[in-house]
Order: sequence, then C-alpha cells, then structure tokens
Amino acid sequence: MIKITLFVFIGIFSFSQSQDRFMPNLPMGEYRTVFEKIHLCESIKNQSLLANFYFDKKTSSETVLRGNLTFLIPFDDTLTIDLNLESWGSTGGWIPNSNVYVTKKACSTLKKLGGNAWNTAMKGFNIPSTTCPISVGEYITSGLDLKKFEDHGFPKIYFYGKYKLVFKIKTTENKIVACVYLEISLLRPWETKI
Ligand SMILES: *[C@@H]1O[C@H](CO)[C@@H](O)[C@H](O)[C@H]1NC(C)=O
Ligand SMILES: *[C@@H]1O[C@H](CO)[C@@H](O)[C@H](O)[C@H]1NC(C)=O
Repeated sequence: MIKITLFVFIGIFSFSQSQDRFMPNLPMGEYRTVFEKIHLCESIKNQSLLANFYFDKKTSSETVLRGNLTFLIPFDDTLTIDLNLESWGSTGGWIPNSNVYVTKKACSTLKKLGGNAWNTAMKGFNIPSTTCPISVGEYITSGLDLKKFEDHGFPKIYFYGKYKLVFKIKTTENKIVACVYLEISLLRPWETKI
C-alpha cells in the first residue's frame, strides 16, 4: 500500500516538476533528524531511573546531548518499555497514539533496537559494560554528538513531520520509574526547518 502510494507520488511529481532541480515533495522518505527538545516528564514524581538530558544546539545540523543518568535501581529485563509517538497534525495540534510500542525486557530490547547507537551511548555516558543489566550508579557524559546515533535500528524511511515521543519505563507493578519527553522533526535531507 505504502509502496503504491509512493509510486503514485513519484509519478505526479516527476510529471509536474520539469525544473532543473528535482525536489520531490514526498510525504515520506529518507530523513534527517532534528532534535528539538528533551527533558524528564515533570508530572511523574520519584523516578528511579533519571535521565537528566538536554540538547546543546551547536548549529542547525549539529546537536550535542549533555547531562547525566542517575540510576537508583538497576536497568534490567524485569522492566517494561512503553513508547508513545504522537505526530503534529497538518492543521496543528498533536495527534495521539499515532504509534504505540510496548515491550517487555526493557534492557535487552533497547540494546537490540539501538544497534550500534546503544554502544555509542554506553561509551558516551562512561557506562563500564555494554551488556544488560546496567547497575545502579551515576553516569555522566561530556557531550554526545547526536550524529553518532544515526546508526540505529529504527526505520530509515518514515513520514516527514514533527513528532513527540514519550518514553516510559515501568515495573511489573506498573509503577513508572522513568519518563522522558522527546521532540524531534524528520526533515527532507536538504531542508533546515519544517
Ligand atoms: C517520593 O519519595 C519520597 C521519599 O521516598 C516520599 O516521601 C514521597 O511520598 C514520594 N512521592 C510520591 C508522589 O510518590
Ligand atoms: C545531573 O543532572 C542534574 C540535572 O541537570 C543536576 O542537578 C545534577 O547535579 C547532575 N549530577 C551530576 C553529578 O552532574
């Protein structure tokens, strides 16, 4: 279905655009990630896996992740990940639950999904071992260039737009032990802004 839509779009655009520079306005494709905001969810008190992150924007294409991780409990496979993705609608406003992802075995899953980005993150935060679980401790980064995270396990092609990601980690008793809010934009490779 997606493939067919894509072909139709390519057809329309190659037909309507006879300029020298071909810039198809496809709704999806290969993207460049712009990191807008990251912070703890203020509404969730007493988090045991604290990700005190912030973005340090060097240029429009260079963002450095700074901050620390304070783990008061181990990050292991007894925990569950609850990922909620909302997209920014064309008429404004967030559209909830455009994608929801729930998975058990939080640590192993994140490691697998992260691919090389996982190892980069472990190294960047000076976490001694890249294997699960991650022990209790305080892990500080001197700054992680987010370009290094492009080697991840997420789809390489996606719909362009602005997204809000709420990443929660829960215990088997459904207690939220971590909650991070992330806002990103997926742009066409040549764009600088939405
Ligand atoms: C947070 O933890 C503190 C200390 O353990 C406790 O006194 C407080 O009631 C907790 N607050 C919530 C909202 O759970
Ligand atoms: C970790 O980050 C928090 C929030 O920015 C800060 O208050 C705390 O001092 C930091 N801890 C260390 C050891 O840098």
